[in-house]
Amino acid sequence: MKKSDMKFDTRSIHAGGPHTNPENALNPPIFMTSTFTFENTDKVDAVMSFESDDYVYTRGNNPTLRLFEERMTSLENGKGAVAFASGMAAISSVLFSFLKPGDNVLVHKTLYGSSYNVVTKVLPKYDIGYRIGDLESVEEIPGMVDENTKVIYFETPSNPNLSIVDIRKVCEFARPRGIKVVIDNTFATPFFQRPLELGVDVVVHSATKYICGHGDVVAGVAVANDADYILSLKFDYMCEFGGVCSPFNAWLLLRGLKTLGVRMRQHEKNAMAVARYLEKHPKVSQVLYPGLEGFGGHETARQQMSGFGAIVSFEVKGGLEAAKRVVNNTELFQLAVSLGDCETLVQLPAAMTHRGYDHERLKEFGLTESMIRISVGIEDIEDILAELERILALA
Ligand SMILES: Cc1ncc(COP(=O)(O)O)c(C=O)c1O
Repeated sequence: MKKSDMKFDTRSIHAGGPHTNPENALNPPIFMTSTFTFENTDKVDAVMSFESDDYVYTRGNNPTLRLFEERMTSLENGKGAVAFASGMAAISSVLFSFLKPGDNVLVHKTLYGSSYNVVTKVLPKYDIGYRIGDLESVEEIPGMVDENTKVIYFETPSNPNLSIVDIRKVCEFARPRGIKVVIDNTFATPFFQRPLELGVDVVVHSATKYICGHGDVVAGVAVANDADYILSLKFDYMCEFGGVCSPFNAWLLLRGLKTLGVRMRQHEKNAMAVARYLEKHPKVSQVLYPGLEGFGGHETARQQMSGFGAIVSFEVKGGLEAAKRVVNNTELFQLAVSLGDCETLVQLPAAMTHRGYDHERLKEFGLTESMIRISVGIEDIEDILAELERILALA
């Protein structure tokens, strides 16, 4: 069977390669080397002129990184991928790759805190402007851009309030105008959503999250449909800015990917049960989860995703003090930033992951100080619900 004909769960284990494996080990070796040797200067010329794609130096390429990139390319259905040291290295490199002084980027109003900081604090230092809009109202996008808008960047579902942006409609607007569409697919993963198939130019991930799945790696990846762009992103940006992923981390990511489908099914099943439980709880005033029929983005999510992910955000009736009592009294859950691990994690976005947002304008951004975000883990659902019951009694 050709690898490209295999189903998602099979490709998450087998896609990519064949990789260098002199001893026929089941698992690929980890190439922990900074540099690679050459037989002679003819070989040097062949590699340095890109006639051969042999390896030179790990900041440019490495067999373990290449295998991870090939696997991600297959899972996102792209033409190539670049691994990065972190999600933020991937996001900032991709933004810099498309933007120059005088340009501007349009972003959705809720973004991961550090992405918001790059757009609103770092890019303007290079005379790159930004516009913040509600991209859920696709029909209003024409009024948000001008001839200098070169990139539309968003997360869907977004962090932390799970906004759903209609990917296909944004791409239909952007493509004829030459605007690049970049999306952060961290929450959905390619198991639930493949934006390149809907017309997106570049997909970025914090691979730290579900791609890894075990909370032991910080890494990122960008995947695109254009092989020439990927070559430029790798050698003009990743390699020159230097945000290279460690081969050891790439190996852990390959291990994590083997169970991506199994984990995502369980994460989602648990998240749905958590959302339904919270919806009925007398101390809860609002539940944000794209899988709930009453959620604003539910219909669009149903059309562009094959599942709704496992991040649930909610509000308790007593406001910030009650929310603090909830997250300060967890036993099974952990109070922590990050998400996508086997463990259930809870946090207060306004005080933690989104602390850099302008607090006067939190509400306008769809965030409140008392919002609680849960990354629902894959523990037994009865234990998860029992923990919720116990901590909500304290709200
Ligand atoms: C949606 C999203 N994108 C990007 C990032 C940044 O990724 P990293 O921490 O791997 O740099 C995060 C981190 O939490 C995130 O939640």
